[in-house]
Amino acid sequence: MAKITIDGKVMEVPDGTNVLEAALSNDVKLEHFCYQRYLPVAGNCRTCMVEIEGPKGNMLTVGCNTKVAEGMVIHTLSPKAKAAQKSAIEMLLLDHPLDCPVCDKAGECKLQNQYMEYGLYDARRDVPRYFKGGKAEDIGEHIMLDQERCVLCTRCIRFVDEVPKTSELAIVNRGHEAKIDIFPGVRLDNAYSGNVTDICPVGALTLKEFRFKQRVWFLKKTESVCHGCARGCNMTVEQNKGHIYRFMPRENPELNKTWMCDEGRFSFDHYQTNRAAEVRVGKENRNLAYGIDQLAKLLQDIPADQVAGIASPTAALEDLYVMKKLFEKRFNPKNLAAPFWDKPGDADNVLKVADKTPNRQGLKLLGFDTEGKDLLARMEKGEFKIVLMMHNNPFGHDEALAQKVYGKVNALIVLSVHQTKTVEKGAMVFPVRTFIEKNGTFVNATSRLQRFRQAFEPENPDVIESSMWLACLANALKVEGFDYVDTPSVFNAMAKEVEALKGLTFNSIPSTGVVLAGLASVAEEPFKGIKAQPNVLGKKCEGECSKA
Ligand code: SF4
Ligand code: SF4
Ligand code: FES
Repeated sequence: MAKITIDGKVMEVPDGTNVLEAALSNDVKLEHFCYQRYLPVAGNCRTCMVEIEGPKGNMLTVGCNTKVAEGMVIHTLSPKAKAAQKSAIEMLLLDHPLDCPVCDKAGECKLQNQYMEYGLYDARRDVPRYFKGGKAEDIGEHIMLDQERCVLCTRCIRFVDEVPKTSELAIVNRGHEAKIDIFPGVRLDNAYSGNVTDICPVGALTLKEFRFKQRVWFLKKTESVCHGCARGCNMTVEQNKGHIYRFMPRENPELNKTWMCDEGRFSFDHYQTNRAAEVRVGKENRNLAYGIDQLAKLLQDIPADQVAGIASPTAALEDLYVMKKLFEKRFNPKNLAAPFWDKPGDADNVLKVADKTPNRQGLKLLGFDTEGKDLLARMEKGEFKIVLMMHNNPFGHDEALAQKVYGKVNALIVLSVHQTKTVEKGAMVFPVRTFIEKNGTFVNATSRLQRFRQAFEPENPDVIESSMWLACLANALKVEGFDYVDTPSVFNAMAKEVEALKGLTFNSIPSTGVVLAGLASVAEEPFKGIKAQPNVLGKKCEGECSKA
């Protein structure tokens, strides 16, 4: 550790930390543009200028590319430091088009924010602005480029060089004509392309899927976890009045850093289209209370052993737990499994894993049979009259096979988020909430228990969480022990019983998750073979910064 002083405040920070991180981690505000914690240092924008006391007098230097040393005395607010920071902003704004009112980045633009914080000068130029051109260029499947807004911070270049390692971007020309561009004949179409728009500090790189759809200050942000694969990247759901406008990566230094793949990022529409909308009993749309009542009456006359349950790795841990409990207390837990006929998807050494479901490890944790071979064989023979199908769509995966397996079942009771082929076959259908409309937990491929929060209430009050639906059914069947009030209360009850969750409560789960002891990981850690990023606090610099 090194003992340093910033603006008169004495602090200890790990050796190797840069001055900017040292300041930020001790609540000292120091602006920065080109610096991104998980990319190599470039030190080109000069907005993080600080004054450092030295034996030969004070010197100005960039905070992001200066390592702390024992006894270092740093000033971020001295007149010299402030003047240098202000000059850097003035320089960046020299040729900027200042089209904030029509720029999609307005409201979350670092240039706007820094001008308000550090600039506030009257323009001093008496020659016309130089316009670089390049307005709204289509440079990739998801990406638009407005070259004239670019401040040449090179964050996007460092990202494509360092993370997907596809290197589509470069700075062309020199001096005031310098601008960002793709190489001739190359498109910015890598599997992680959306991240460049998050890290672009201005409105030069924007997402086609978000451009002009919504002003960012109207968006409400909720902590969540991506559902797209078993990596479970941390993200925020950003919505207004129940309409989702975007998923954005959320920082987790131990998992996805600040990145997410395009597949996960653009999956948000999937959760607001083709939804199962109404409770259906037979051919009639009815309300939830009627549906549960009818189902309870139906189940009363069926021997407990002739009821089977099919769960799914797309259900939350709480849904799975209540389903298991119901089968233990009312039916037969041996007649419960979670076969899921999905094919492995694409994987890479960045984030994506082949398992495209979010909670297969959760099934393992709760002891579910994830193949269900025996159960399905018995199903085919006609041993079951009723099947409770939760978040699973066998008819959508392989209709002929599903018909063979479930053909002899009298009534399929389907709990589904979407309008699927299995929903069409259901004798009773109950629409349920997506992970965006409820609280809950998943366990990812590297055994990290992660919490997602409810972003909004669905319009239809009959669309409830699967865990709560199962509890309602248990109560209608007069089975005791299902007096949960909400999903967190389900988690808290589960944590008292499941060894790996002992000591946890829903609200005590850290926002970056917790790795569960005793549950073997089924995937490599992310960023395999991608060199450790040099700037993260406590990590050793590997020499890249000095080269930059
Ligand atoms: S396009 Fe954005 S991220 Fe890339 S260099 Fe320009 S300002 Fe920086
Ligand atoms: S890697 Fe998987 S979890 Fe991460 S953003 Fe992509 S789909 Fe979502
Ligand atoms: S943030 Fe330090 S020079 Fe750009």
